[in-house]
Amino acid sequence: MKHLLTVTDLTPQEIQEILDLSTKMQENPTKFSQELSLKNILFAFEKPSLRTKIGTEVAINHLGGNVLHIDPENFLNGAQCFSENEELLAKQKNIREALKDTVQNVNQWCNAIFSRVFKHETLQALAKYSTIPIVNALCDKHHPMQALCDLLTIQQNFGKDKKIKTSFVGDANNVAFSLFEILLSLGHEVSFGGPEEYFFSIENQQHLQNLAKKYNGKITFTTNAKEAVKNADVIYADTFISMGEEHIYDEKIKAFAGYQVNNSLMTATGKSTTKFMHCLPAHRGEEVTDEVIDSKNSIIYQQAKNRMVVSKGVFSFLINQNQ
Ligand code: CP
Ligand code: NVA
Repeated sequence: MKHLLTVTDLTPQEIQEILDLSTKMQENPTKFSQELSLKNILFAFEKPSLRTKIGTEVAINHLGGNVLHIDPENFLNGAQCFSENEELLAKQKNIREALKDTVQNVNQWCNAIFSRVFKHETLQALAKYSTIPIVNALCDKHHPMQALCDLLTIQQNFGKDKKIKTSFVGDANNVAFSLFEILLSLGHEVSFGGPEEYFFSIENQQHLQNLAKKYNGKITFTTNAKEAVKNADVIYADTFISMGEEHIYDEKIKAFAGYQVNNSLMTATGKSTTKFMHCLPAHRGEEVTDEVIDSKNSIIYQQAKNRMVVSKGVFSFLINQNQ
């Protein structure tokens, strides 16, 4: 069973196949209007979402499929206690149903589960019992759907075969990790600029270095934002405080002083053509200034549109492959 929990669940060839399929579907809406006919996709989200939820729902509607929404109380309540002993936990903690049973029921009616969760392990538990594809709509460690749409956006702006340099400035979070995984897998150059206490773990740095080596990409890490962005074709930012981290707002804001993407940092690339990207939602005035996010070099709404485009390719690729 092919799931999409992380970027590396896909080979570089499959990544490009999905992007090409997405583009084809977007350009020929009538031809693909029944691609997911009679298919039902269950959306199970533990956290808020605008782009991932609505962009993907529109995509599935365009392909003739059907979306069902279930709230955490009715689905993931048990999953929050994921563990090898979840059945035991289900009994002890008065959870409605063991995750194993919930998933295997959904398998009888639906063709994929699209889920946004607090813990990556929840998705792994879903995948363990599922005979239909599980697609990660964001978790604490990864955001593969975002990475796919960002790569498509980069290819649309710079050409499919051109290798470029992308600098991520800020927090080494889920978005940064998936972005680096996908860009390195396609042989691009990436650099990270952020405060030491919010760097990627040593293990993740090693993993990214290995990807760079395997696919002829390049990666550098620095605490100096200006150094990170030198020669960058793209500067990428995300909010300093991710969903679920609101309780450490003050300490993070303090740590990230000096990592705002403003005109001075955009100029430090040495190129007037550098594009600005952001997964959104943005906290204007924190990680990015209005003048940068609203500038002509900002391609944030193209990224947002591509959330919908890429969802077409992802769901038809996975559902058709697993039929
Ligand atoms: N970028 C992104 O995933 O946005 P949402 O949280 O609104 O889905
Ligand atoms: N890093 C952010 C991304 C939101 C799309 C978060 O996890 O909240």
